[in-house]
Amino acid sequence: METPIKILLDRKREGRELAVSEIRALIAAYTKGEVPDYQMAAFAMAVCCRGMTAQETLALTESMRDSGSCLDWSDLLRPTADKHSTGGVGDKLSLIIQPLAASCGVAVPSLTGRGLGLTGGTADKLESIPGYNASLSLADFKRVVADCGCSMTVQTAEIAPADKKLYALRDVTGTVPSIPLIVASILSKKLAEGAGTLVFDVKCGKGAFMQTPDQAQALAEALVNGAKGAGRKAAALVTAMDEPLGFAVGNALEVKEAIDVLKGEGRQPEDVVSLSVEFAALMLSLAKGFDLETSRARCRENLANGKAYAVFAEMVRLQGGDLARFEAENRDGGDAPSLELKVERAGYVASIDAQQVARVAFALGAGRAKTDDAIDPAAGVRLAVTHGDAVSPGQPVAKLFARTKSAGLEAAAADLAAAFSFTAEPPPPRRLVLA
Ligand code: URA
Repeated sequence: METPIKILLDRKREGRELAVSEIRALIAAYTKGEVPDYQMAAFAMAVCCRGMTAQETLALTESMRDSGSCLDWSDLLRPTADKHSTGGVGDKLSLIIQPLAASCGVAVPSLTGRGLGLTGGTADKLESIPGYNASLSLADFKRVVADCGCSMTVQTAEIAPADKKLYALRDVTGTVPSIPLIVASILSKKLAEGAGTLVFDVKCGKGAFMQTPDQAQALAEALVNGAKGAGRKAAALVTAMDEPLGFAVGNALEVKEAIDVLKGEGRQPEDVVSLSVEFAALMLSLAKGFDLETSRARCRENLANGKAYAVFAEMVRLQGGDLARFEAENRDGGDAPSLELKVERAGYVASIDAQQVARVAFALGAGRAKTDDAIDPAAGVRLAVTHGDAVSPGQPVAKLFARTKSAGLEAAAADLAAAFSFTAEPPPPRRLVLA
């Protein structure tokens, strides 16, 4: 490196702007193992405290993107788009949005994550389908996208290796909550994935990474500006995450709910359906240049006529999954030990605390605390009611499931009861899209 790292650290600590070439050199050297973790941790802390300009953030993002492979989709005959969510409780939207957008003529190459902490990752959810391979090689990933328009698989080691290293370091040095670092981390992976349009779902509330609308809005703007700065079409919505999305929280339960939405079966979770249409329509409108209302109409149509489900089923088949077996085994929550939670009083469901529901699902085995922990695909919570529903004494409001941790069902049910609050009058409706 031309400028010694010590000088860069001094300058960043004093809040001065680093040159694009200096940031590029720093990330290249860190990726090769030429910058020790203690200096990189000091750099991350200086960025946390002092921030970065838009130009610095873009330089950090692009150098992390360039630390590994970047995919090229120019041989496909259709435009590419992907949606990224900052993660929420019961957030199975990707399982619906990606095939829905693909069914409308957009190709969706989606590199996704495994869950760590309370909220599950899309790859974990999909792996609850017997045989589903969520660890495709990049060549197979490209083949599945070319064959059916959509693939969801975990990001390989070739994608943004600098982010993998830096994120692990940030995790143990108190340097995760910094907007420039979060933007560079998320965007470097999404840019390397190569989709021409990127749509971001920035969750805000008790069950989310961003707890206030101001923080969520700032992250949303920074992600969109960064993606546009790197030459992509981009948009973001800030969406509510105080209450779980839909009825299901837990891997297999969420996949089953997503399939029910794609097939139009059972009680439809209105929040999941309307956000799925909204995000898929945004992808379609940006990628293909349709106006938003036409895009929404097309998405609603392909949800209703089964075309989105057909893409999902074909993707699962191409990735080795046995959907018929999954559906047969997961009717009504499957055969895992379960326990119903009933209410004692009459009223209306005024709120269901997303964070508390996530803690219960996690305690039942639906999440992992360390990257190598095993998860129980059957574990979780299926709500029987949603915001605004009327309840009467003795009515079940949720069912809890656990296989490996079934001894904890009673205690978990007591914890889950604390997530509900009821009022005598119907509560005001929830606002799903905050900005
Ligand atoms: N998700 C990421 O991929 N990176 C962050 O820094 C935060 C959330």
